[in-house]
Amino acid sequence: MTAASGATASGGREPGIVRYRPARPDELTTCAEIWRDSINDYIVGLGQPEIPQDLGSILRLYDHLRASDPDRFVVGLVPDPSVVDGERIVAFASAVLRERLWYLSMCFVLPEVQGRGVGRSLLAHSGPPPGDDVVRATATDSAQPISNALYASVGITPRLPLLNFIGHPMRPEALGSLPSGIRPVPFDELAGGPPGGDGHAQLAAAVDALDRESLGVAHPLDHRYLRQEGRRGWLYRGPDGVPVGYGYATEAGRVGPVAVRDADLLVPILGHLTGAITPRGAFALWLPGTADRSVVAVLGAGFRMDQFPILLCWDRPFADFSRYLPISPGLL
Ligand SMILES: CC(C)(COP(=O)(O)OP(=O)(O)OC[C@H]1O[C@@H](n2cnc3c(N)ncnc32)[C@H](O)[C@@H]1OP(=O)(O)O)[C@@H](O)C(=O)NCCC(=O)NCCS
Repeated sequence: MTAASGATASGGREPGIVRYRPARPDELTTCAEIWRDSINDYIVGLGQPEIPQDLGSILRLYDHLRASDPDRFVVGLVPDPSVVDGERIVAFASAVLRERLWYLSMCFVLPEVQGRGVGRSLLAHSGPPPGDDVVRATATDSAQPISNALYASVGITPRLPLLNFIGHPMRPEALGSLPSGIRPVPFDELAGGPPGGDGHAQLAAAVDALDRESLGVAHPLDHRYLRQEGRRGWLYRGPDGVPVGYGYATEAGRVGPVAVRDADLLVPILGHLTGAITPRGAFALWLPGTADRSVVAVLGAGFRMDQFPILLCWDRPFADFSRYLPISPGLL
């Protein structure tokens, strides 16, 4: 991508001169406010609750996204003589490259400058390196035609619903228990030695292999972020000791990511994760529509479906979403 550019796109529809450049760390709070304001602008009218004022967890995600792919965390600025730097951020996008997968994590434009070409320009400025081998993917709100149309116009088409479930396993028998011979081992136990020691290396290799089999790419940087966020991981070993899956859950209630070698293991692993952790509030998990048995099972266990589905979009197949549950819509 172009690191900094004063180009205006879309035939001069842009609101004044928009300059694009990589974001600085001290600009992430402004980006999070744009995220909140541009979402609230349309969800409130749909009768949905506003995004809360506390931006703590989204800011930690932004820190991670920027740190792991700084050139693809891009802000759009317009001239504004009333502010100290003479420019004001009106939009931003963030994408990350994980092996051959380019994932657009965020793309938000302030409501007053939407529909004037800024989103399309941000897409270009945060884009993948040229070449045939990169898969482009993102997640959109099914209630938002602009983003779905914008990404689809460049081939990143909505393909698969991602459903959000909230609640507690009030009827845990609907999720069942792990098949005999499958043993959950906490990541902490496996990586108990010094950083960089054998335990760490073996765990990282097992997780990377499971990710490549199910998600199509490994993403060790994101696993480091998950552990910093306090998500607790388990590696599931088969009777012969071979890793057959992994999964995370946290006391904040997040469940996922989960990767399994055999799709039949997804439901019992969800049962294990939601039984192993006592969340401070409710559990929240994201299930792709292709993880159909898990969808049936969590509803049977008493979880409630929440809000409009998110849509996973991509330009060509790359993952088996019957065997992989993502971290969140913002980061696979
Ligand atoms: C989605 C968003 C980032 C797009 O940015 P934007 O600056 O408004 O979009 P642009 O003007 O660059 O492009 C929109 C394109 O979609 C097209 N479009 C919009 N609605 C459409 C529809 N219903 N059907 C077909 N095309 C449509 C526009 O014509 C335009 O295409 P063009 O450049 O060929 O004219 C911005 O509107 C936004 O922040 N929305 C609210 C939050 C959100 O949903 N963010 C995305 C999260 S996934």
